[in-house]
Amino acid sequence: MAASVVVLAAAPIAKPNCPDRCGDVKIPYPFGTRKGCYLDPFYFINCTDDNSNKTLQPIHGNVVVRSISLDGHFEFSGYPASECYKNVNSIFYRITTFDSISYTQNVFVAVGCDTIAYLNGTKNGRNFSMGCMSVCQDSNDVVNGSCLGIGCCQVEIPRGLWDFTIEARSFSGHKEVWKFNPCSNAFIVKKDAFNFSTKYLHALYTNNSSFPMVVNWGIGIETCKIARSKSDFPCRGNSKCYDDFVDYNGYRCRCNPGYVGNQTSPMVAKIPRRE
Ligand SMILES: *[C@@H]1O[C@H](CO)[C@@H](O)[C@H](O)[C@H]1NC(C)=O
Ligand SMILES: *[C@@H]1O[C@H](CO)[C@@H](O)[C@H](O)[C@H]1NC(C)=O
Ligand SMILES: *[C@@H]1O[C@H](CO)[C@@H](O)[C@H](O)[C@H]1NC(C)=O
Ligand SMILES: *[C@@H]1O[C@H](CO)[C@@H](O)[C@H](O)[C@H]1NC(C)=O
Ligand SMILES: *[C@@H]1O[C@H](CO)[C@@H](O)[C@H](O)[C@H]1NC(C)=O
Ligand SMILES: *[C@@H]1O[C@H](CO)[C@@H](O)[C@H](O)[C@H]1NC(C)=O
Ligand SMILES: *[C@@H]1O[C@H](CO)[C@@H](O)[C@H](O)[C@H]1NC(C)=O
Ligand SMILES: *[C@@H]1O[C@H](CO)[C@@H](O)[C@H](O)[C@H]1NC(C)=O
Ligand SMILES: *[C@@H]1O[C@H](CO)[C@@H](O)[C@H](O)[C@H]1NC(C)=O
Repeated sequence: MAASVVVLAAAPIAKPNCPDRCGDVKIPYPFGTRKGCYLDPFYFINCTDDNSNKTLQPIHGNVVVRSISLDGHFEFSGYPASECYKNVNSIFYRITTFDSISYTQNVFVAVGCDTIAYLNGTKNGRNFSMGCMSVCQDSNDVVNGSCLGIGCCQVEIPRGLWDFTIEARSFSGHKEVWKFNPCSNAFIVKKDAFNFSTKYLHALYTNNSSFPMVVNWGIGIETCKIARSKSDFPCRGNSKCYDDFVDYNGYRCRCNPGYVGNQTSPMVAKIPRRE
């Protein structure tokens, strides 16, 4: 039926009368770009062309969003933590922080030849610190496409950690390697989205490179059981509430099989997905 195809194509992912995209990026509810379009201020997306490209970009907090998926992940451009030596006396230093990242979909990567990188996080009020190191002396020893400890190292991210702080440091001020590697860098990146090469030793920081990373989002920082008793409980109609205290710290709504859309409204959620 042609008519139903049209309806399906227009299946609302945003609230009625709300923009459902920003540039190329779809903006599904609970996210929104205008007042009245998002669930609460956490889900506000600033759709702005105030950047060097003059193109519309969705900004959440201070990061550029690359995509949002209703399974509770969004992908954004993350900048590395760095420690850089302009010369022996001039050091630039930046750490980065994240609340909640997907431990299954990202890895932690450090780039440098005089580099120790930390991934610090917390769990149950206790601090954890992990990371990796890479020391090398000559850029000819570095192998493009390989991140096994020479110029580049990586580790998996343990499950259940929160409040990440990333820090990159050097052992000896990049003195010996400064010509080809002035900086230590560390970042979290979507698996398989980073292909190391020597150019990153030279210019990762100078180019202001960013990398895609997968961040968790959910609806509320509480259990379904508690949320369900509230009048503004959003998982209604053909959707179910589920707890995720592993990759997130609260609950999300998920459409029942065969349904997509505005999960607070049975009317909209009833639109069947066409496979
Ligand atoms: C869902 O859709 C219904 C009907 O179109 C609308 O009244 C309601 O405000 C929407 N809810 C959200 C949270 O978008
Ligand atoms: C959105 O971002 C622009 C550019 O950075 C800024 O001028 C504006 O104040 C922001 N809007 C809101 C509502 O935060
Ligand atoms: C500018 O646009 C290009 C192509 O859309 C994109 O790859 C690049 O990341 C953008 N740069 C900035 C600073 O937004
Ligand atoms: C955990 O680390 C933070 C930041 O480094 C620090 O402020 C806090 O005191 C530490 N907590 C414990 C229990 O050591
Ligand atoms: C990360 O953890 C290491 C080891 O505990 C500590 O030396 C470092 O100061 C921590 N970095 C930050 C930014 O908290
Ligand atoms: C990574 O880059 C190397 C060369 O620098 C290339 O041979 C390899 O195919 C690339 N791998 C991926 C997965 O893109
Ligand atoms: C590694 O890749 C860089 C560009 O990313 C290139 O300049 C360099 O020659 C490559 N090295 C080798 C050994 O292929
Ligand atoms: C840095 O930018 C230059 C010029 O745009 C480009 O040729 C080079 O590949 C970039 N290097 C990295 C590490 O992104
Ligand atoms: C890197 O790019 C981001 C986004 O365009 C910008 O906010 C930031 O100021 C840039 N940093 C540097 C050091 O140029």
